[in-house]
Amino acid sequence: MARSELATVKLFKFDPEVDSEPRYTEFKDLPYKGYTVRDVLAYIYENLDSSFAFRWACNQGMCRCCVVKVNGKPVLSCQEVARKHMRIEPHHKFEVIKDLIVDFERLVENYDLEMRGDLNSGGKQL
Ligand code: FES
Repeated sequence: MARSELATVKLFKFDPEVDSEPRYTEFKDLPYKGYTVRDVLAYIYENLDSSFAFRWACNQGMCRCCVVKVNGKPVLSCQEVARKHMRIEPHHKFEVIKDLIVDFERLVENYDLEMRGDLNSGGKQL
């Protein structure tokens, strides 16, 4: 596979029960053409690092449990087309349980409570 067809991902890792600070792990030479972000995460998990946590369920854009941020933008990882360079992080509005998994019941302190409605309403904003 040509280098131009391979991606680099910086992946957020943080376990609040163990780690004092979040960190990023970089993965290079990943396939991404024709992949969603969820597919890339699954590739990393299955082939390179099964120690990180991420979540998905329906894989159809319905349940919204796969929400993450890619290059700073909130997206549904199962619907977002993968890019050549991605920084993948948990959604910033929710407390991190582990790595990309957030607690949808607990907003980050001082965050606008209206956002909980956005996530559940099927609205455009994530
Ligand atoms: S897995 Fe359900 S919306 Fe992405």
